[in-house]
Parts: sequence; structure tokens; C-alpha cells
Amino acid sequence: MRTIRIFILFSGNGSNLENLYTTLEGKEVVGKSGERAKIEFVGALCNNPEAYGINRCHELGLPCITLPHQEYPTREEYDIALLKALFLYEPDYIALCGFMRILTPRFINAYKCINIHPSFLPYHKGTNGIKDSFEDKEANFGGVSVHYVSEELDGGEIILQEKLSKAPFRDLQAFENAIHQLEYKLYPQALQKVIEENL
Ligand code: GRF
Repeated sequence: MRTIRIFILFSGNGSNLENLYTTLEGKEVVGKSGERAKIEFVGALCNNPEAYGINRCHELGLPCITLPHQEYPTREEYDIALLKALFLYEPDYIALCGFMRILTPRFINAYKCINIHPSFLPYHKGTNGIKDSFEDKEANFGGVSVHYVSEELDGGEIILQEKLSKAPFRDLQAFENAIHQLEYKLYPQALQKVIEENL
């Protein structure tokens, strides 16, 4: 049976990394053509040596590379190092799990890259998607979007997204917790959907 190889990029806490791994590692999927394949997480890379997600990788037994971006003067040079580091893993997909770096076209064009963003895109792009949607008086919802990575920040084609009404939440913390729960539901579904559609 064919193996679909996933590589994860992350920068921080790594809760989506852990959730993807525990939900999908070893899972059998069936493509439209009837072809079966098994999902395998082949490794992870983190640009931040202090990230808590590195501990999660160790506990999961997922090989993790640390590649600090400060050592590279340009995005282009960092992405070349990234491509070199990933080459031997032969990934079919790159899943971004809170990777706080803008990727250059050189990287984006080399792999199918997927990202999760904690808002209902195209609303509330950028690093503060949860807070921005909670504080936006024009929108009564936040949400979660899983999308392909393109050259435009948080702008690639949507794979799956879901709205979350703000009404039941009295404070940002409660809203944020609910957004993360929605992420844990949506990201594995979206990744599996992409794999099955392309099998
Ligand atoms: C998530 O909210 C994700 O949507 C965003 O960054 C956060 C990462 O959280 N891109 P974690 O590191 O997976 O816990």
C-alpha cells in the first residue's frame, strides 16, 4: 500500500501538530479511484529552539529538526536551507501548524503546503486572527479556515472552513478555547480530504 508522507512545520506550542499526529498517523485513506494509502508523519521542523512543540515531538516519537531563522540573512536563504533539510524526508505534503514565517515562492512551489488559520477567511487575516475577530464589532462570528499556502498571506484556496458564533462567549479566553477545539476537528478532516482527493 502506498504511503502518504506528511512533514510538519511549526514555531510554538504545537497543539495542532500533536492533534494531527494522534488523529491521522497510520490512518488508511481511500481515494476517489478506490486506491488505498496510509498516512505517515515523517518529521517536523521548528524555527524556534525554545518551542514547547519540540517536547511534544519527542513524546510522540516524531523526528524534529530545529532550524533557527536568525542564522539566515534573507527569507530566500532560509527557505533554501529548509528545502535542503526536508529533501531526504520526501514529503508529499507540508502541514503548517502555527509556523510563524512567510514562505517564499521557491518553497511554496516545491511542495503542496497547507495551513490552518484561526478565523473565517478572508476575514481577520494576520497573526491575531482570534482576537481581531472577537473584537470586530462588524462581525458576529469568528471561525477556522484550512487553506493551501499561496504567495499571499492567509490568501490561498480554502480547503475547509467553519464559522463560530461569538454570541455564547463572554470573554476572549473562552472564545479562544472554542476556536482551538474547532481547529482540532477541522485540520485532520481537511488534510484527509486533500489526500483523498489527490490519491
Ligand atoms: C493556531 O491557532 C493556528 O491556527 C495558528 O497558530 C496557532 C498554533 O497553535 N496558525 P499550536 O502551536 O498548534 O498550539
